Amino acid sequence: MFNNKKIAVIIAAAGSGSRMGSGIPKQYRKIGGIPMLIRTLKRFRDHGAFDVFCVVGDKEHLPLVEDLLSQAGFFEVQVVEGGKLRHESVYQGLLSLPKDVDYVVIHDAARPFVSQKIIDDTLEQVLLYNAVVVGVPPKDSMLKAPGNEGGTGWASDYLNRQELVSVQTPQAFSKEWIMEAMAKAAAAGNFGTDDGSLILKAGYPLRVIAGDYHNNKITTREDLPLETRVGNGFDVHQLEEGRKLILGGVDIPHEKGLLGHSDADVLTHAIMDALLGAAGAGDIGRHFPDTSQAYKDISSLVLLEQVSDILKERGYTIGNIDATLLCQRPKLAGYMKAMEENLARTLGIGMDQIGVKATTTEKLGFTGREEGIACTAVCLICR
Ligand code: CTP
Ligand code: MG
Repeated sequence: MFNNKKIAVIIAAAGSGSRMGSGIPKQYRKIGGIPMLIRTLKRFRDHGAFDVFCVVGDKEHLPLVEDLLSQAGFFEVQVVEGGKLRHESVYQGLLSLPKDVDYVVIHDAARPFVSQKIIDDTLEQVLLYNAVVVGVPPKDSMLKAPGNEGGTGWASDYLNRQELVSVQTPQAFSKEWIMEAMAKAAAAGNFGTDDGSLILKAGYPLRVIAGDYHNNKITTREDLPLETRVGNGFDVHQLEEGRKLILGGVDIPHEKGLLGHSDADVLTHAIMDALLGAAGAGDIGRHFPDTSQAYKDISSLVLLEQVSDILKERGYTIGNIDATLLCQRPKLAGYMKAMEENLARTLGIGMDQIGVKATTTEKLGFTGREEGIACTAVCLICR
């Protein structure tokens, strides 16, 4: 309840997401690990003012909707089958509401970043004015032109941006007004582009309040927020006489070298594990088993290049990598830049995206006793 009024929210989630491209409709896809629809619903549940929750889904995906809702612990939500067009979906949602609902808030599943403030303001205003939409001033200049042809064509007029608002959801109405406006639109056979437009057509005043730019609708791929993931890697190799010491692909003169199936480049191995881990792609042991002759004495930079390909196939790019070698001797300062250059070149990243550092362990432990060299690495990858 909100000020003793019974409030329902309808989440329109029955679209096909055609502008987003192939795959399941956008509202069921995950953003930062959580399906968009669930993110959106949570914003309204967390608010606390709503008595009735209604999700309108498309017929094909109704089982998926039920699944997502129960996984997220939304048991009190009513699920309704939508229609081909958005207003048909909203209308089905409205028809399903209990009779005693006073006000209805309608929101796009595809706007998962709606703030508590917007919801607060919308509720406060709908109780005063019966019909409210949220909007933001357009950022670009606006003109009249054939937009449905991708924006290519002849301009007919520039519009005064000062007089324009780009309309978002939530849009909130007294149930009586929106039901009547829907009935009038149905009689006239003209449903406009959103629910607020029906209110104006029905002859009622429509209040506009400030939304915010974070509340944008996820419509095309460009609207999806950057997905970032972190990874960490750790590796150790034993030092032994008669072996080469290869770190980051650099051959470093020393009386001992690292023992291993490949060139035992402990730095490159830690980085590979960090990258694979970040991408959820397992570890180096899984991709390059040390039982395979193919990897005997191989340069680890060749393997790193393959890891880079695995990341690319999964759509990831590298943000940055930071590695620390734990090495008592030899002194590595003079070789760091060459290591960074090899790694950056192999991965196709800039020198400012890779950091290689080294520390002694003050003669403590196996690295301090010069029995081996260890390396840790962290990375950030983006999609
Ligand atoms: N919507 C709906 N029923 C429809 C069409 C759209 O419930 N028949 C919902 C969408 O799921 C979305 C919101 O209305 O949450 C806004 O619509 P839009 O961004 O246009 O989504 P889609 O119609 O799915 O995308 P597109 O127009 O690119 O196909
Ligand atoms: Mg649409």
